[in-house]
Amino acid sequence: MTRVSEPSLSSADVLRRCLCPGSYDPITNGHLDVITRAAALYDEVVVAVLHNPAKSGTFPVARRIELIRQSLPQGQVSDRVRVEAFAGRLLVDVCQELQVEAILKGLRSGTDFAYELPMALMNRHLTGVETVFLPGNPAYEHVSSSLVKEVHSLGGDITGLVPDVVLAALRARS
Ligand code: PNS
Repeated sequence: MTRVSEPSLSSADVLRRCLCPGSYDPITNGHLDVITRAAALYDEVVVAVLHNPAKSGTFPVARRIELIRQSLPQGQVSDRVRVEAFAGRLLVDVCQELQVEAILKGLRSGTDFAYELPMALMNRHLTGVETVFLPGNPAYEHVSSSLVKEVHSLGGDITGLVPDVVLAALRARS
């Protein structure tokens, strides 16, 4: 009798996917640096735009997504990155649904680590999902969405700290 064997799934066939969650209100060049580096480490990066109830939103989530998509370097990076909104759900549930291998976050400083560590531990407690931390590019250590918005709103120059489309979007608001 001829036995037809199931095609076996080798480790090379498994898509390695990570998830970069955040408010991205709006995306900065610091975020973009982390996403670009994540795309070099994983087959697919899911940029998950989530509403953080602790923060008042500046841009609607749909606009934040648009700005992220327009900011991604075209080609190797944009081909590997998906940008999606998730609302009213635990991050770990999104991770399970999308079968991501890890949550990936950039760290600018020890302050970031202190903020991120409890979330990483809670997420691992809930489902076992790991969080991978990448050291942020020191060129953007001082860059955050809230700070660039404040500096811009008071007339300061944020050129080079955010993608050009974000600068244009901020100018259009003021
Ligand atoms: O860019 P932010 O605002 O620091 O991102 C925080 C975010 C959105 C990643 C975090 O608030 C989050 O994961 N929210 C989803 C809801 C959730 O799972 N909360 C429990 C986290 S341990």
